[in-house]
Amino acid sequence: MSEVAVIGAGHVGAAVANALVLLRTCDVVTIYDRDAARAEGEAWDIADAIPLLAQMEIRPTGDLADLRGADVVVITIGATVTTGQSRLDVLGANAGIIAGVARELDAVCPDAVVLLVSNPVDVLTRVALEASARPAARVIGCGTVLDGARLRQRLGRLLGVEREDVHAYVVGEHGDSAFPVWSSATVGATPLRDVELPDGVSLAQIQDEAAAATRLRGRSIHERKGFTSYGVAAAVARIVRAVVRDERRLFMVSVKAPERYRLGPVVLSLPSVIGAGGVERHLPLSLSADERALLERSAAILESAYRSLAS
Ligand SMILES: NC(=O)c1ccc[n+]([C@@H]2O[C@H](COP(=O)([O-])OP(=O)(O)OC[C@H]3O[C@@H](n4cnc5c(N)ncnc54)[C@H](O)[C@@H]3O)[C@@H](O)[C@H]2O)c1
Repeated sequence: MSEVAVIGAGHVGAAVANALVLLRTCDVVTIYDRDAARAEGEAWDIADAIPLLAQMEIRPTGDLADLRGADVVVITIGATVTTGQSRLDVLGANAGIIAGVARELDAVCPDAVVLLVSNPVDVLTRVALEASARPAARVIGCGTVLDGARLRQRLGRLLGVEREDVHAYVVGEHGDSAFPVWSSATVGATPLRDVELPDGVSLAQIQDEAAAATRLRGRSIHERKGFTSYGVAAAVARIVRAVVRDERRLFMVSVKAPERYRLGPVVLSLPSVIGAGGVERHLPLSLSADERALLERSAAILESAYRSLAS
């Protein structure tokens, strides 16, 4: 029996729990919040969908000890980024909360894969990693999975091809310094630079438009509804499914950068094969000189955010 726990029954936690049910990702979803009534309200609302959909169970709780059977724990608690704030602005408030939860989870479910969603997700994944005795492969952040989905969707539209045939990835910080790896982007097996473009449009224009749309998307949603939830919830559910079903699927998730990148102890999104053990393998990333500089810049921003916690 597979069990997934969601910590936090706010906008994101509730949307994640709902996505796990809609996508029939596991047998049991446990949803925890320090506000137990909120966890109950969300769990009961989602539970009403179950008889229409699948044989599953959703359990609310206000006690972290109830997460003991979890195979995967998704962490969504913390102060949310408000309009005009960057993800790094809320770091100080969330770091203490996340470190405490990571330690508690070590006692409750030491073998679970822990998936961070709370922002700034890369730095908080590092905070959780440092606080926890869990192997690094079992502490990951949802990183730029959503950014990549946004990029492929926009590129597919601009190029007039199905987005699933667009292979383009966003790496680095889940934030302003994230960037698409254009040098290896393809449509099917055709390098992006060789793809025939719509009349009157250059490749640079298409890349600029797709990158800008990807970068600004979260902010545009925030300005209109005050938070984001459904997109990230679907991204999280896909990562969780890869763990629960040992899919060995490739995601750009927040991981401790492998030595070969020579980026230091930073956590940021890099190509990672996700399965039952969390990160099963890191795949090498080929970068142009400009992209290498962008990755180093992203790592430097995240390193300085992490160091700011100590000061
Ligand atoms: N990584 C991503 O792509 C992404 C996308 C959207 C939001 N987020 C992040 O997810 C987080 C949650 O956002 P939200 O909109 O759901 O916020 P929210 O305010 O709606 O929900 C937060 C929930 O956490 C609970 N909580 C707070 N501190 C707690 C604690 N110490 N113990 C237990 N429960 C606690 C609150 O009771 C609340 O229910 C934020 O950090 C946000 O920035 C990340």
